[in-house]
Amino acid sequence: MAGGSLKKRPNKRSNDKPYPSPMPSPTSRFNYRKSSLIISLLLLACVVVLLGISSNRWDNFAFDDPTPQIYTIEVVSEFPHDPKAFTQGLLYAGNDTLFESTGLYQESSVRKVALRTGKVENLQKLNGSYFGEGLTLLGERLFQVTWLTKTGFIYDRNNLSKFENFTHQMQDGWGLATDGKVLFGSDGTSTLYQIHPQTLKVFGKQVVKFKGHEVHNLNELEFVNGEVWANVFQTDCIARISPKDGSVLGWILLHNLREGLMTAGERAIDVLNGIAWDSVKKRIFVTGKLWPKLYEIKLNPMKKQFHGAIEQLCLRMPFHFRTP
Ligand SMILES: *[C@@H]1O[C@H](CO)[C@@H](O)[C@H](O)[C@H]1NC(C)=O
Ligand SMILES: *[C@@H]1O[C@H](CO)[C@@H](O)[C@H](O)[C@H]1NC(C)=O
Ligand SMILES: *[C@@H]1O[C@H](CO)[C@@H](O)[C@H](O)[C@H]1NC(C)=O
Ligand SMILES: *[C@@H]1O[C@H](CO)[C@@H](O)[C@H](O)[C@H]1NC(C)=O
Repeated sequence: MAGGSLKKRPNKRSNDKPYPSPMPSPTSRFNYRKSSLIISLLLLACVVVLLGISSNRWDNFAFDDPTPQIYTIEVVSEFPHDPKAFTQGLLYAGNDTLFESTGLYQESSVRKVALRTGKVENLQKLNGSYFGEGLTLLGERLFQVTWLTKTGFIYDRNNLSKFENFTHQMQDGWGLATDGKVLFGSDGTSTLYQIHPQTLKVFGKQVVKFKGHEVHNLNELEFVNGEVWANVFQTDCIARISPKDGSVLGWILLHNLREGLMTAGERAIDVLNGIAWDSVKKRIFVTGKLWPKLYEIKLNPMKKQFHGAIEQLCLRMPFHFRTP
């Protein structure tokens, strides 16, 4: 995506705001004229304010796309996380238990992890020629995709023994999530796929867009309350996506987590990746590749408006990997 295509749209509000026409200078010697002038000025001020409010309303509801809400985050709790886990898939499975998929050749795995201690309770290694990616749980089955291949694996959630492998129709395997009925998949492009959980065939797809810009590099996915949340690779942003039309409903900015770890001397950490949602207790968990911590976070909607910075913070050029 060329930098030029990311130009901020003109801010309608600041252009449209009506300004009072210059007033004739008050030359009257009468108090009566003075006070009526003051009243007129007050009335004019009210009109300006009301016009301003109604033009904001129009901007938000009639003429503009609904502006996606921006959220910052607050850490509710910190938990230990295996600093050797190159997190590529994460999900919450109840009873303070997470499942995690990790990447890197010779080191990839699917694992069951205790939330509170970070302890790996069960681990199934992948064949060393596979690089683990997204993971999701539907019923008793864990689905995992792998990087630079169209091969995926299905495991039994109870003992991580492999049921079977599958071939998918995405360009690559990056992220997986489920609403309990269908699988959602990402392949590092701007496409969000809908995949049938039995046939593993793609039956729907949406191009994810933010104000007309494609959101490339969609990575780890999570289904949260009717939305699909996606880590955007090489950013500290999570896009909240409408699975109906691919539009970005909101952005979550998490730069303070990685920056906090770096400041604390964690130099070896990689990017933010991994979102898990506890739909019962409404808890959001996030971590990153080789992060020593996993965080429970809370979202805070930003009050002030964001002007253009989201494009720089959260959108990236399409990423092209060289096949090893
Ligand atoms: C919940 O996890 C604990 C600790 O791993 C385990 O002992 C217990 O059996 C689990 N309960 C259920 C209902 O799975
Ligand atoms: C790993 O996968 C490769 C490619 O599919 C295959 O050739 C090899 O035999 C597998 N190794 C093991 C130990 O299963
Ligand atoms: C894993 O658990 C399933 C039941 O959920 C069982 O059928 C299967 O034999 C188990 N596999 C192993 C290797 O224990
Ligand atoms: C997938 O499963 C088939 C049939 O069980 C097996 O022949 C093949 O080697 C498997 N492929 C991988 C990549 O594990």
